[in-house]
Parts: sequence; C-alpha cells; structure tokens
Amino acid sequence: MSSFRVAVLISGTGTNLQALLDQLHSPGGPIEIVGVASSRAEAPGLGRAEAAGVESAVFPLTDHPERAERDAALGDWLDSLEVDLVVLAGFMELLTARVVERLPTINVHPALLPAFPGLDGIGDALRYGVRVTGVTVHLVDAGVDTGPVLLQEPVRVHYDDTQESLRERLRPVEHRLLVEAVLALADDRVGIQAQRVAIRSVEGA
Ligand code: GRF
Repeated sequence: MSSFRVAVLISGTGTNLQALLDQLHSPGGPIEIVGVASSRAEAPGLGRAEAAGVESAVFPLTDHPERAERDAALGDWLDSLEVDLVVLAGFMELLTARVVERLPTINVHPALLPAFPGLDGIGDALRYGVRVTGVTVHLVDAGVDTGPVLLQEPVRVHYDDTQESLRERLRPVEHRLLVEAVLALADDRVGIQAQRVAIRSVEGA
C-alpha cells in the first residue's frame, strides 16, 4: 500500500508539526510527512523536521517580488514531492489559488471560525470578551480562514486568561484535532457537500 504523502507548512515553533510527526509519521508507512516548508528561515519548527529526517525548504516572500511567484516556487516543490495533502500548521501567510486549488489543503486556527479569523484569533477573542473560544480545523480555499469546517472544539475562556495562558489550553486541542483530521482524510472518510462536511468514524469506534 502506498503512503498518504503530507507536506506541512510552518512559520514558527511547529508544535502542531511535532504532533503530526510523533503521532502519524512513519517513513514508508500509511502516512508519511514528506516535506516541511517554512516562510521564514529562522522558524524553530525547521529543526523539528531535521530531527525527524524530513526534507525541508524555505520560501521567504523576500526572495520574490510577488507572492504569486513565491507560491509558484512552493507549488513546484509540492508537486515534486507528489503530495496528497498540504497542512498549514501555523503558516502565517496567505497562499494564492495556485497552491490551494491544486492540492487539498487544511489549516488549524485557534478560534471557532467564522469568529475571529486572521492572524490574532486568540487576542481578538480575549479583547472581545467571549466566554468560549476554541479550535477549528478547516479546508482552505482562496479566502482568509474560510473553507469548509472539518473539526471544531470549544475551549472556555477564563476571566484572568492572558494570550499565553489561553494559548496553552488551546494547543493540545489543536494537536488532537489536526491529527484526527489528517487521519480522516488519509482514510478517505471525509465527505463534502458545498460548505458542509461529514466525517465517518472509524469502523467499530
Ligand atoms: C497555532 O496556534 C495555529 O492555530 C496557528 O498558529 C499557531 C502555530 O503554532 N495557525 P505551532 O507553530 O504549531 O506551535
């Protein structure tokens, strides 16, 4: 049986990448992380790819006059790896349609979309004063944090939460939902009709 080949795109620490490496990745196995790309050369997550022996590459916007050109280079790299799925795991930039329309792409976001999209979902939720926020894993389309929702889970906001304390409670939920979403896609258990998604549970579970 051939592997389900996953590329992970990061910009930062890469704890979500680590969860995928620890819980799903096996070279030549059912799910293989075949590449990690970063938008920043200094992203600490790149070290996690290296430690796991996974190929990595850096695609900084500063190397290209236009985002479309950077995304074309990134798209060519993904093609060369024969990727089945792209996971945005803290990739803090928009991608042009060139990438997201050619390959199934998912994103993990630290809020209950469509509430608090964008770069600061945690800070925006705190400033608004919501009592409940959470985590969303969704399919990526050409919009900003739009696209059909695969999985969501609420997390309570405490009165004395800071961005750091709330992030600490969101993180393990992100890791769990992201792993669950990749497994469901690899097993072909995801059905999508327009914006609505149904995920079949594992038989017997
Ligand atoms: C996560 O909060 C994710 O939801 C957001 O960026 C953060 C990445 O964290 N899109 P990490 O680099 O995986 O630790």
